[in-house]
Amino acid sequence: MHALIVISHPEPASLTHGVAAQVAEGVSLSGNSFEIADLAAEAFDPRFTAADLAVHRRKAPPPADVAAEQERLDRADALVLVYPVYWWSMPGLLKGWIDRVFSNGWAFDFSPESKLVKQLGDLRVHLVALAGSDARTYARHGYLGAMKTQIDHGIFDYCGARVVTSELLLESETQDPAAHLAAARAIGRGLFDASRRGEVTDTA
Ligand SMILES: Cc1cc2nc3c(=O)[nH]c(=O)nc-3n(C[C@H](O)[C@H](O)[C@H](O)COP(=O)(O)O)c2cc1C
Repeated sequence: MHALIVISHPEPASLTHGVAAQVAEGVSLSGNSFEIADLAAEAFDPRFTAADLAVHRRKAPPPADVAAEQERLDRADALVLVYPVYWWSMPGLLKGWIDRVFSNGWAFDFSPESKLVKQLGDLRVHLVALAGSDARTYARHGYLGAMKTQIDHGIFDYCGARVVTSELLLESETQDPAAHLAAARAIGRGLFDASRRGEVTDTA
């Protein structure tokens, strides 16, 4: 089985990159393969342009950079997103990747004349988000529920992809990173076990 691990962080030495490396190591240890998509290093352009709108309206094929990302996803059995929480959501770079790559005609099929067809039923998704705040803050303000509604359900369920793991690695700026790195490795090791069993884990 093959995983596409998408990282959205500008610094290679960041905890986010360290967590992604541990996920990758865990995938390798489980005897599976992975590919890294480092959106910042690869200079993915997250700006949604008129060309992307033409794709949405089914008037043009995807631009080359979007088609290349869709091909990477087509090769993957599992998608792992590793990102820091920015303003109780994902970073703009990653949101732009979703906006552009999860396009009408590829991720879903929608036209005013027909019903929505979800097209990513075979894709298993694992969300690994680093967060500076603590669990109480997420619970008190409903941020965790808001993120799950918007990301897990609003994006991935809309396309038919199943979110198998949805993990928040909390207090990332104040806690010893060792626990988060170990958790990331465990997620990598169990990536395809969890997918096969269809379990949804959520420790936050
Ligand atoms: C622009 C910005 C916005 C942030 N917003 C949030 C937030 O809404 N909630 C949160 O828990 N942490 C927030 N943080 C903290 C980061 O999620 C946290 O520091 C994370 O560990 C950053 O990843 P890194 O350690 O790999 O740099 C924010 C950080 C930045 C830079």
